Amino acid sequence: MKEKILVTGGTGYIGSHTTVELQNAGYDVVIIDNLSNSSRKVLDGIEAITGIRPEFVEGDCTDIETLRALFKAHPGIKGIINFAASKAVGESIEKPLLYYRNNLMTLINLLELMPEEGVKGIVFSSSCTVYGEPDRNPIDETAPIKPATSPYGNTKQISEEIIRDFVHSGAPVKSIILRYFNPVGAHPSAKIGELPVGVPQNLVPYLTQTAAGIRKELTVFGDDYDTPDGSCIRDYINVVDLAKAHVIAMKRMLEREDTENVEIFNLGTGRGVSVLELIESFERSTGVKVPHRIGPRREGDIEKIWAEPRHANEVLAWVARETLDDTMRSAWAWQQTLK
Ligand code: WQD
Repeated sequence: MKEKILVTGGTGYIGSHTTVELQNAGYDVVIIDNLSNSSRKVLDGIEAITGIRPEFVEGDCTDIETLRALFKAHPGIKGIINFAASKAVGESIEKPLLYYRNNLMTLINLLELMPEEGVKGIVFSSSCTVYGEPDRNPIDETAPIKPATSPYGNTKQISEEIIRDFVHSGAPVKSIILRYFNPVGAHPSAKIGELPVGVPQNLVPYLTQTAAGIRKELTVFGDDYDTPDGSCIRDYINVVDLAKAHVIAMKRMLEREDTENVEIFNLGTGRGVSVLELIESFERSTGVKVPHRIGPRREGDIEKIWAEPRHANEVLAWVARETLDDTMRSAWAWQQTLK
């Protein structure tokens, strides 16, 4: 029998790519999404890629009754992957309560319902933002958690603690916490990808919109950092590679009896790439020039961070495989479908 997985936020960027990989791996998927930052059309893209239309519930996970009704209508859900959350750092500083309500209530509701609904495991989307500015790179999972610099970041730290406390209380659930570095790119079919609303805040969607002529130029936020070329360094991870790690994590929780009840993994490539190197990679791999200029630093930016992914490589037998050039090509192919 196919096992059924609930994907909250499943029409979003990472949620949609993960739904594709779950379906490709033989799982049945039920998506719940309030469509606050995504579109129902994403379901068409998922169906076009996999030949299967996932079950879809339009609803808000901050409402526990909506979730209860979902479990009643879709019995037999064995695992949850929780993507439903607000994720814009700047907006979280302006609207902190929105972030605490959305991100924390959703998680608390899901955890509360898991034992009574017989759901065994939850994969939680966390972030490298919990490390703040690292003392050294690459950074592994044992590194200290630094004070959060935004309500968004704080919701990730608090969520990790909520999960740990709940599992340690003896609740019959397991969790795998995945700390993402910088997810970029799109599905190679160009049928799903990132759909930023308004002016993109993140580098790659801003870059592809600039290459497409939607934005005049890309501003590189600072070239006077203590890095080889002066621009900030991140670990850019292909979104399909990232999605595949969720399938492995889910399988591990559902099938293995001998694992810790809470496990944490960094998901990154282990390779630090500067903003200027990323622009070069895009131009080289697509042949399209990106008008850009150096601007001032962006407040709150981390200077450099990249992952030590060895724990995930060894324990999950998962490795980020896609090259940055291929990932940039996929981001560009997706951007061109949006015209
Ligand atoms: C990447 C680099 C910018 C835009 C992300 C998520 C955040 C959180 C942490 C999610 C930086 C530079 C950007 C531009 C630029 N993660 N940049 N010009 O800051 O690493 O944050 O990870 O859980 O939600 O956003 O990602 O894409 O914003 O920036 O020069 O127009 O690109 O300074 O060095 P960041 P980003």
